[in-house]
Amino acid sequence: MWSCMTNFFTYETTKSVVVKSWTIGIINRVVQLLIITYFIGWVFLYEKAYQVRDTAIESSVMTKVKGFGIYNNKVMDVADYVTPTQGASVFCIITKLITTENQVQGYCPESEKKYVCTHDSNCTKNRNRPGSYGILTGRCVPFNTTIKMCEIKGWCPAEIDTIKTTPMMEVENFTIFIKNSIRFPYFNYTKGNFLPNITADYIKKCSFDMDNNIYCPIFRVGDVVRYAQQNFTKLAHQGGVIGIKIGWMCDLDKADDQCNPSYSFTRLDAMSQKNIVSPGYNFRFAKYFKMENGTDYRTLVKAYAIRFDVLVNGNVKFAFTRFYCYYSTMQGTVLCDIILLNFLKGAEQYKAKKFEEVKHLVLVVLDHQIDR
Ligand SMILES: *[C@@H]1O[C@H](CO)[C@@H](O)[C@H](O)[C@H]1NC(C)=O
Ligand SMILES: *[C@@H]1O[C@H](CO)[C@@H](O)[C@H](O)[C@H]1NC(C)=O
Ligand SMILES: *[C@@H]1O[C@H](CO)[C@@H](O)[C@H](O)[C@H]1NC(C)=O
Ligand SMILES: *[C@@H]1O[C@H](CO)[C@@H](O)[C@H](O)[C@H]1NC(C)=O
Ligand SMILES: *[C@@H]1O[C@H](CO)[C@@H](O)[C@H](O)[C@H]1NC(C)=O
Ligand SMILES: *[C@@H]1O[C@H](CO)[C@@H](O)[C@H](O)[C@H]1NC(C)=O
Ligand SMILES: *[C@@H]1O[C@H](CO)[C@@H](O)[C@H](O)[C@H]1NC(C)=O
Repeated sequence: MWSCMTNFFTYETTKSVVVKSWTIGIINRVVQLLIITYFIGWVFLYEKAYQVRDTAIESSVMTKVKGFGIYNNKVMDVADYVTPTQGASVFCIITKLITTENQVQGYCPESEKKYVCTHDSNCTKNRNRPGSYGILTGRCVPFNTTIKMCEIKGWCPAEIDTIKTTPMMEVENFTIFIKNSIRFPYFNYTKGNFLPNITADYIKKCSFDMDNNIYCPIFRVGDVVRYAQQNFTKLAHQGGVIGIKIGWMCDLDKADDQCNPSYSFTRLDAMSQKNIVSPGYNFRFAKYFKMENGTDYRTLVKAYAIRFDVLVNGNVKFAFTRFYCYYSTMQGTVLCDIILLNFLKGAEQYKAKKFEEVKHLVLVVLDHQIDR
């Protein structure tokens, strides 16, 4: 018990022992050399671990689409085919429309095949369940001269979305203009995708391409779809989501004009491409009107659209004096000590030299100081 106590209340201080031995000396220098080579070659020159990175990018994206299309003998402009219209980083270009005009609240037959019936009894079993376009009433009513369908209460007549229409192919030639500003808060570094050498003249007629105009902020829809490796005809028919990625990988050690955006394109809804149940992308919206006698009526639109998501990511790095942090780990003392104290001839002797026990010395020194 007592010896445990005395062993616990001790203090260790380092003492340098110079060992003049070829073996241990060579090992020491070789290990030091390896560690220095590792740090200089790998950590500093290759990995550049001494650099500070900022990945918290702040970004704003503004978009503008231009072009005219013809659909159902009507000329369509931006306000007709882009939604939402605010010019945000996510927007849709409508390629195909199924419109159902003059819908009013009332009773009418369903339009989907699964609601075909011959008696009311075929419909009562589905009563109070939601139909495709309204609430089922449980009655079986004529749809046309040959077939009968279950009746609904809702906006009538019900939409028929199986009609075949051709998409607006002019979308391929529409242009998307993207304005992107970024800021890295750590370094207070700001930049935009308009490079300083871009002139008003250039921007009027340029169009992005991967070979010659990699910094032009105007993109032709057909090119974007092609770079995302998609078939435009198919995409316009079914709808889909395309990602326009803007990457900012900047090294602030280099000149400012080396920090440039890099654009890449991909299809984001890759899953719905292969899926047969729900292929593509579509949504519905309605325009509301009022009759003279005050009754509401609406035009329902089912729109197939190509949605564009502009995604911005990036990181910026900058050299910093982290050098000294690595210095302390650079000395190969640990390995040499292990060899010296365990595996060499006369290890006991070294141990005795390295760990020397001093008893009562501290107390004596303290006593002297008090005496004075
Ligand atoms: C409707 O119900 C009758 C019997 O009530 C049945 O014979 C007929 O097959 C049903 N029709 C459909 C389309 O389910
Ligand atoms: C009635 O509607 C069905 C389903 O849409 C269709 O197959 C059929 O040809 C139509 N009949 C007439 C006479 O329009
Ligand atoms: C797109 O533009 C090119 C050349 O300007 C033209 O040849 C082509 O017919 C246009 N495509 C459509 C679908 O209008
Ligand atoms: C960031 O930089 C701008 C100029 O580039 C300067 O006006 C602003 O004060 C800086 N902000 C901070 C927090 O340093
Ligand atoms: C602008 O500068 C970049 C390099 O920073 C160069 O690749 C590009 O061709 C220049 N653009 C024009 C229009 O001169
Ligand atoms: C795109 O798809 C359509 C039909 O889906 C096909 O006719 C056309 O050949 C395809 N185009 C290319 C370039 O693969
Ligand atoms: C308003 O007029 C339409 C036809 O013009 C008619 O179908 C509807 O029942 C009228 N509504 C009211 C509340 O009178």
